[in-house]
Formats: sequence, C-alpha cells, structure tokens
Amino acid sequence: MKTPEHQILVCASFRLSGTPQGICQKRESTDLLQYLEEEIIDRGLDALVCTTGCLKACEKGPVMVVQPANAWYGEVDTDCIDRVLDGLEEGELPAEQRLS
Ligand code: FES
Repeated sequence: MKTPEHQILVCASFRLSGTPQGICQKRESTDLLQYLEEEIIDRGLDALVCTTGCLKACEKGPVMVVQPANAWYGEVDTDCIDRVLDGLEEGELPAEQRLS
C-alpha cells in the first residue's frame, strides 16, 4: 500500500456524540474542503485531506494541520490554503498564519 506524502487535517469540530459544535465548523471549515481537494488535484500533489474532531485550538479556527511537518495553521481561508500548497510544492511551508 502506498501512503500519501502529506496529510492535511481540517478541523470539522466533530464531537464524540451529537452534531458538530465548535468554532471551526461555525466558521465554515468544511466549506474549504472542496477547494482544498481541487487545488491538490490541479497541482498534482500527493496529499490526503482528512477532517477531524476539535483540535483544541478553537480560538484560531478554522484550524488546519499539515503532516508529517506538524505545521498548524489558524484562521484558514482559501488564501492560506494557496500559500500552504505553494509551500508544499516548493518544499518550504509558509510562516504566515502558522500556529506551530
Ligand atoms: S473546533 Fe476546531 S479547533 Fe476546536
């Protein structure tokens, strides 16, 4: 089995039970998923997008994490996604909006 070079985790505010609650979901983090997927395909990147439960950085939502770089981003929007994907292509992730 071939595993992806990168994983991009997007907080969807899932909880163990009940409906999603939390800042990321309220700030429409899941609306970013289609854009992210399409950009990854357009750029030919080897990256898998996953949604997650609360990543415990709610005040910075929407939150996105790039692994294995362990690069956390806050207040993510399409401009941030573009910069992060540019960084994956260029081999250096951007510092802007980075939480870690
Ligand atoms: S709801 Fe996204 S970090 Fe908590």
